[in-house]
Amino acid sequence: SFTSTSFIDDKVEQIKKLVGDKKVICALSGGVDSSVAAVLVNKAIGSNLTCIFVDHGLLRYKEAEQVEKVFRETFDINLIKIDASQKFYDALKGVTDPERKRKIIGEEFIRIFEEEARKLGNIDYLVQGTIYPDVIESGTKDASVIKSHHNVGGLPEDMKLTLIEPLRELFKDEVRRVGLELGIPEKMIFRHPFPGPGLGIRVLGEVTKEKCDILRLADHIYREELDNFGLTKKIWQAFAILPDIKTVGVMGDERTYSYAIGLRAVTSTDGMTAEFYPMPYDALQKISSRIVNEVKGINRVVYDVTSKPPATIEWE
Ligand code: XMP
Repeated sequence: SFTSTSFIDDKVEQIKKLVGDKKVICALSGGVDSSVAAVLVNKAIGSNLTCIFVDHGLLRYKEAEQVEKVFRETFDINLIKIDASQKFYDALKGVTDPERKRKIIGEEFIRIFEEEARKLGNIDYLVQGTIYPDVIESGTKDASVIKSHHNVGGLPEDMKLTLIEPLRELFKDEVRRVGLELGIPEKMIFRHPFPGPGLGIRVLGEVTKEKCDILRLADHIYREELDNFGLTKKIWQAFAILPDIKTVGVMGDERTYSYAIGLRAVTSTDGMTAEFYPMPYDALQKISSRIVNEVKGINRVVYDVTSKPPATIEWE
């Protein structure tokens, strides 16, 4: 049976032997898988690993700062952080089709990552946080036809990097155990899954910085209250969505015409099917009143009561 201690010891030995004193890079997303992979490889080869973290402006509230803090302060990992938000907002200007948005975000991400990797020079290996379910999913077509996922592949071909995928045989719960054992903070380990294109597919229709900022704050309040109500661990994924819809409201004597926001929370075991989470009314009440009071530009909150199928987890 699986024990995280012996897994870590074995992998560290293997990676040391494989890499020697060659140079390794890793695209850090702040997600559980890439974080655990990076810390594991860092444990094996220390400063021969450089992590590149691209902030695409589509991250959640204070996410970039949090990732930076953990990796620099807790683990002393070589980290290059690129603030590329403006590039992504520019590239997404006027684009409304979900698959086109995914494609643009994915390609822009790889272009920026590649540029940074080239600046470093002499790189032989690339660490990826691929886990067992990704291996299966990219082999079967179903899910990826419906929405293009780009966790696996997408490597610049001429860079000739050899992949290191230390988590390839692990299931998510095993990855989490390894992460905790390595000393990664619980908050990061028990994070809900977050899609690569981030808020780019949660701001429905055209993505702008202004909309991302509104969504970021509402989403932060939502998830903070789920923590306060002790609900985070009962839910597979919870997030806010900003549809491109304005509705009429009233504030004091004033008529308002502002965005409505959607709240999503589902239970699931693998993301392939999901049930909407029966959110307690007291939590909904608190979340709703905080969002409309604290987020300028929102005057209405709705809760998504659809399961997957027929809906998907994300709205785009
Ligand atoms: P759907 O919306 O297809 O989502 O029910 C299933 C799971 O996949 C995540 N998801 C993505 N992850 N890139 C990703 O890395 C994507 O383009 C993408 N689209 C959806 C979603 O958050 C859920 O966990």
